[in-house]
Amino acid sequence: MAVLDSILTKYINATEQIDPIKCVGHITKVQGLLIESRGPQAIIGEVCRIYAPKGRGVIRAEVVGLRGETVQLMAYDETTGIEVGNRVVSTGELLSIPVSTKLLGRVLDALGKPTDGKGDIEAPQYYPAQADPPNPLQRKRITERIVTGVRAIDGLLPIGKGQRMGIFAGSGVGKSTLLGMIARNTSADVNVVALIGERGREVNDFIANDLGPEGLARSVIVVSPSSAPPLSRLRGAYVATAVAEYFRDQGLDVMLLFDSVTRFARAQREIGLAIGEPPATRGYPPSVFDSMPKLLERCGTSDKGTITGFYTILVDGDDMDEPIADTVRGILDGHMVLSRRLAERYHYPAIDILSSVSRLAPVVAGPVTKKAGGYIRRLMAVYAEAEDLIDVGAYKPGSNPAIDEAIAKKSAIDNFLIQAVEEKNSIQETLQTLGNLANMQIPDDELGQYV
Ligand SMILES: Nc1ncnc2c1ncn2[C@@H]1O[C@H](COP(=O)(O)OP(=O)(O)OP(=O)(O)O)[C@@H](O)[C@H]1O
Ligand SMILES: [Mg+2]
Repeated sequence: MAVLDSILTKYINATEQIDPIKCVGHITKVQGLLIESRGPQAIIGEVCRIYAPKGRGVIRAEVVGLRGETVQLMAYDETTGIEVGNRVVSTGELLSIPVSTKLLGRVLDALGKPTDGKGDIEAPQYYPAQADPPNPLQRKRITERIVTGVRAIDGLLPIGKGQRMGIFAGSGVGKSTLLGMIARNTSADVNVVALIGERGREVNDFIANDLGPEGLARSVIVVSPSSAPPLSRLRGAYVATAVAEYFRDQGLDVMLLFDSVTRFARAQREIGLAIGEPPATRGYPPSVFDSMPKLLERCGTSDKGTITGFYTILVDGDDMDEPIADTVRGILDGHMVLSRRLAERYHYPAIDILSSVSRLAPVVAGPVTKKAGGYIRRLMAVYAEAEDLIDVGAYKPGSNPAIDEAIAKKSAIDNFLIQAVEEKNSIQETLQTLGNLANMQIPDDELGQYV
């Protein structure tokens, strides 16, 4: 009896220390995206449950602001059915997601729940959706090439394991198709594909056409379509990054294919404006420029593995100085520009090589490969400069040997750069063809994953 008493006393004491008022609050206002409540005591980012019996029952929301006694919340789901007076209970936790290798081949929603109807995922471990980037001093240096399987990239824009690249393009010039090609053909161990703010219809198209069954088998897809509330789009981006971090922690080389950063930034803008931030740069509140480096810096190398990132950025009317494009370009280790002009000529992937840079190319490609790439770039530049003359027939063959060579090699270079979606290419084939185009023999030790 005495034992029972002492156990009971322990629990009675414990319950006395809980202050239920602190954990429970009540809705005072719902306006657009923003929900306000009196209490509970919570920190920014904390997940709360709103009990809305006339709505969906329980709605998960996150604390986005604190103003005196007022807690500002935003829901991950639709807010229909929330009334003034509904209970808000804090969970004491930040958003986290279950992770395991069983995520491979699966499609998740913005909160990490499977949405492909293939059942629940057994996961013994949880990862926080928001995390700090690896300590810069513990990051491994990028020294090894990652093969994308896309000739134009592997040949002329070599990418390192753990590098972060931006894909800048207008709408409909082949961003999603290019990401699908990389996912299918890359030498990375695992792909994590983040589809943030895309049209819902496109998600199935991407999985069926661009990725295909073989691509899907070694990928995890995180989807938060444009119809989802902005907080869900934002968290989808973090959840995808957290999944990539989990696989990186297993010592793997991960490929993070992120479509699109622009839609992520717009979701952050909607939230910032809703909680009363002032619009600062071209309508974007300061939190947008704060959140982008936080997201993008999580990619890259750690002391265990690597995450190579390809992030798409929408540029309207080729405006590369638009604030989102400008900020992202400053953070990443290189950029690729997709050109509408090339797409119109059915030159796919429509990568404008001369406007694209991989800042780590000098580190990850061998000396002869670099020389060959430089040679081809020069030929392309010479052709581009003389193109107007050539097109109108004003160029006289024989008057400039460099232009003559550029003209002679033009169609061979185009054949090298143009690649059908389903066309597979090993790095050996790519570099041998590149060497032949530049009249150089690329030595065997540069044909593998050059270190
Ligand atoms: N490699 C390719 N080969 C053939 N056609 C292509 C290729 N890449 C893109 N296309 C064509 O361009 C169209 C648009 O491609 P995609 O959906 O990849 O562009 P996007 O930039 O992602 O567009 P959005 O801005 O709408 O998301 C495709 O439907 C297809 O017709
Ligand atoms: Mg797309």
